[in-house]
Amino acid sequence: MKLTLKIWRQKDANDKGKLVDYQLSDVSPDMSFLEMLDVLNQQLIDNDEEPVAFDHDCREGICGTCSLYINGRAHGPDREITVCQLHMRSFKDGDTIYIEPWRAKAFPVIKDLIVDRSSFDRIQQAGGFISVNTSGNTQDANNILIPTADADTAMDAATCIGCGACVATCKNSSAMLFVGAKVSQYALLPQGRIEAADRVKNMVAQMDLEGFGNCTNTGACEVECPKGISLDTIARMNRELMKASCK
Ligand code: SF4
Ligand code: FES
Repeated sequence: MKLTLKIWRQKDANDKGKLVDYQLSDVSPDMSFLEMLDVLNQQLIDNDEEPVAFDHDCREGICGTCSLYINGRAHGPDREITVCQLHMRSFKDGDTIYIEPWRAKAFPVIKDLIVDRSSFDRIQQAGGFISVNTSGNTQDANNILIPTADADTAMDAATCIGCGACVATCKNSSAMLFVGAKVSQYALLPQGRIEAADRVKNMVAQMDLEGFGNCTNTGACEVECPKGISLDTIARMNRELMKASCK
């Protein structure tokens, strides 16, 4: 395949940035999207040009670091996959592909296609944990009976990989799907109930502090989420917040 790539290049957070055109030939349909970018970067290095900076780690849909806006879609054209799971067979010979970073105030661009998602880390640090006494008297988790439906729903929420596609695709740059998933993961399990009120209040307060927008029920986040996190998690988070605020 021969492709024209229009890639966002930005030296650092202060640079204005612009789309730059690149031509790439001999792209195999079996390459992953990131392997295609590796080939481009090798070509740039061979020509003494600066390679394109992009985030990646596991390359198997687990870590949540790959984060590209491809032809106006978070994680590209396919549903429920990350960029690293996207393959070039999803494109045609001769295609022009636009590749941009996540764009949200709370995710400032560091360089080219890499954004700073430490705002998500700070939300997690505000309440995305449980405090467990590990003195040696810890109860065996198998002794705590949990309805299968609750365990399954909590597990579904726990599949959120913190990629930020929900924020990038939301017209309000809202992080409510991410925070809803994190709150739901604990709210549905007895281990998470002890600190539930503080957790939801602290995580939502941090979310607001970071500059994320509010949810207006558009649902774009659910459509673009690579893990299929449901809007139900946002409703659960709102109910948890209401309960916590009435205490
Ligand atoms: S809710 Fe989905 S889109 Fe948002 S951070 Fe989690 S996995 Fe990514
Ligand atoms: S590189 Fe880890 S999810 Fe894509």
